Amino acid sequence: MMPFVNLPAQRNAYRNQLEKAEKAVLDSGCYIGGDQVRLLEQELDSYCGAAHAVTCGSGTQAIEIALSVLGLEPGDQVIVPDFTFIAPAECVQKLGGIPVFADIDPRTLQIDPESVEKLVGPKTKGIIAVNLFGQCAPYKKLREIADRHGLWILEDSAQAFGATCTAGDSSSEGKACRACTFGDISITSFYPTKPLGCYGDGGAIFTANPEYAEKARLLANHGSKERYRHIEIGTNGRLDALQAAVLRVKLQHLDQELEQRQQNAKVYDQFFAGLPGFTPQVITDGNTSTYAQYTLLVENRAEFTSRLEKAGIPYCIHYPLPLHEQPCFKKLAANDGAGFASNATTEKVCGQVISLPFCAFTDTQSVVEKISKTF
Ligand SMILES: Cc1ncc(COP(=O)(O)O)c(C=O)c1O
Repeated sequence: MMPFVNLPAQRNAYRNQLEKAEKAVLDSGCYIGGDQVRLLEQELDSYCGAAHAVTCGSGTQAIEIALSVLGLEPGDQVIVPDFTFIAPAECVQKLGGIPVFADIDPRTLQIDPESVEKLVGPKTKGIIAVNLFGQCAPYKKLREIADRHGLWILEDSAQAFGATCTAGDSSSEGKACRACTFGDISITSFYPTKPLGCYGDGGAIFTANPEYAEKARLLANHGSKERYRHIEIGTNGRLDALQAAVLRVKLQHLDQELEQRQQNAKVYDQFFAGLPGFTPQVITDGNTSTYAQYTLLVENRAEFTSRLEKAGIPYCIHYPLPLHEQPCFKKLAANDGAGFASNATTEKVCGQVISLPFCAFTDTQSVVEKISKTF
């Protein structure tokens, strides 16, 4: 079966550069922190235009650190999308906060600002906006809501490092800004299959606010600035030098890969445009997606998955359950009903979504040819 994400093909393409960078780290004796991590942070900053980048151990850890930086206290409510990976809601609850689940837009599958507005209450402290499947969330509207109610925005760009958006906020004046610059604090993930992925876990926190950056760096280093003096309770939030070296090589190729991803997505878009009952996630004007996933809605998903299985095409269901229905939130739902009402669009979408094999090295033409043969 073809791979869902073709990481071996990517490694083959950059093998010489990767092996040289990996060997240099292994021979250096410096495996944690050091030049590779410092240089990566500078390069991430200048790539996305954030003032400060702080690397850490994973995207999930980046969210936890960011929430602590923002001062989340037990009992605080945070509005999160009902349709996404669990990490944003999980981190809120882990820190004693209460995730409140907003519905999504049926076309873009992104958090719906109207639903967010309805959920704002006296205990709401912020919004976590997820750049789902690689497209930026509707920041202009979210920022208006946040400003009106005195809330912060945490931008979860785990799936969208490299995406652009021209309508992020009123200050962008129509120019394209990169993902990881729309939140008061933003995060990304370097999980291997992400648009910019390493060979293990990794993540980063971005902010324009120097105090937030300083606090994030402190929390990611056991609350310590000075060796063996700990000002705060922090964590081991380190990115390995080896992962940083791999990311520095892959970052050089990111723009070219994103361009190839656009072309590969077009092949799927054109194919599904001619098939009734199939609706790809809509990428709105002014956005470029990283296509961390190529995801579409299918009216008869069971019939389509049996075609894919016969044709030997792998697929994933991102995501099969609204987050508010996940067993881990049941106790919270029983104790605190806020944000656990059903979300009609999320529920419908969970029954119809499917993601197809996708990356810069996926031959999407051959995937559509294989699918065509099943009709
Ligand atoms: C939207 C979103 N947020 C957060 C994460 C967590 O990232 P990590 O796996 O690096 O912890 C992921 C990972 O899939 C994600 O998709």
